[in-house]
Amino acid sequence: MFTSRMPLPPMESALTQRLQSAIAAAPDYRITFAEFMDWALYDPQAGYYSASARQLGPQGDFITAAHLGHDFGELLGEQLAEMWHHLDCPTPFDIVELGPGQGLIAADVLNQLARQHPQCLPAVRYTLVERSPALMAMQQQRLAPWQRQGCEIRWCDLSEIAPDAVEGCIFSNEWVDALPVHRVVLTEVGLQEQYVTLGSTPDRPFAFTLGPLSDPAIADDLAMVGVQIAPPAYPLGYTTEVNLAALDGLAQLARRLRRGYLLTVDYGYPAHRYYAPSRSQGTLQCYWQQRHHDDPLYAVGQQDITAHVDFTALERQGERCGLTTLGFTQQGLFLMALGLGDRLSAIAQAKTADINQALRRRDALHRLIDPTGLGNFGVLVQGKGLDAAVHKPLKGWAVPPLTLV
Ligand SMILES: C[S@@+](CC[C@H](N)C(=O)[O-])C[C@H]1O[C@@H](n2cnc3c(N)ncnc32)[C@H](O)[C@@H]1O
Repeated sequence: MFTSRMPLPPMESALTQRLQSAIAAAPDYRITFAEFMDWALYDPQAGYYSASARQLGPQGDFITAAHLGHDFGELLGEQLAEMWHHLDCPTPFDIVELGPGQGLIAADVLNQLARQHPQCLPAVRYTLVERSPALMAMQQQRLAPWQRQGCEIRWCDLSEIAPDAVEGCIFSNEWVDALPVHRVVLTEVGLQEQYVTLGSTPDRPFAFTLGPLSDPAIADDLAMVGVQIAPPAYPLGYTTEVNLAALDGLAQLARRLRRGYLLTVDYGYPAHRYYAPSRSQGTLQCYWQQRHHDDPLYAVGQQDITAHVDFTALERQGERCGLTTLGFTQQGLFLMALGLGDRLSAIAQAKTADINQALRRRDALHRLIDPTGLGNFGVLVQGKGLDAAVHKPLKGWAVPPLTLV
């Protein structure tokens, strides 16, 4: 929750009114939390991600690995180049990036390929799948120089990519956590769903209400990951999230991938930790100006809303859709395996006139691998259409994950 000492973001009245009208017109005067989150983040005019491209970054509400210098994207470029070789150097080599934000990672990947893998770059067909018009415009501006140099770069909706059209790698960084989630609550009558209804006062335009599960897929997802939220193991009031959009997205991606890899970087846990009885209020978080709190009904459209990722669900759903799990590790280990340690040593050995700049860069590299922060993000790689010959180990997953209980 916001504390009294924190300045509050302004209310977004146009979006609030549109949402109130939608709720007033809905059966039982309520919409699922997933529908609410979808409006709050992606309403085409006033949604958090649609309205501006400035919410990400040090001056915005939160940063991602892409804002800590060029290293994350460049090291990812190293992994992509190896995948191209493993696939026998196809042309086109598809790189499909989901939720590319400000286009920083794409630019760093292309730079790395241009500098270190010039034979791979001409084969690349880079596709950006972005829902926010404001962010897409920023990506287009950032990548225009690459297009002028002849790189094949395109933007499209996932639905515009034909089945089996992708040979290469589909990847995302902090995309899955930005998808709308359903929320469930354990009550005396069993597992119920949390809906959003109209609030009773002008300063609280929305309120939570409970009802039956809106979609049988919610219970299916929990069963798929082997979780049964019921007493006595779980306390009454236990609240958590189910990301059906991620499962649907994964099914769509699997259909489009003919041969290659699906690489997901995000914060989250395997199911037994995600749905631990002690995590009694779930993982939902809201971000505003580098602070986080847990009130998604406040300042709708002005703040990010996000939930951690259940990596077990991604693995199991992937298997249902013909994907094979090839590896899972943590971001710190992934980046170290791809050469981040060499970059740290190079800073230590370099004779630089600007010591402050060197220290800032070293600090950024440490943040990328910090086991209490970005370094603990999960990095999952799944594959499809890979015969035994291309089941070669991938550099990024050379070090297995540290075991977490
Ligand atoms: C948390 S940001 C991550 C941005 C970027 N990947 C980075 O690491 O800086 C989430 C991104 O996913 C995009 N996004 C969310 N849902 C999407 C969808 N269904 N299709 C395409 N993009 C989506 C958002 O607009 C935003 O660009």
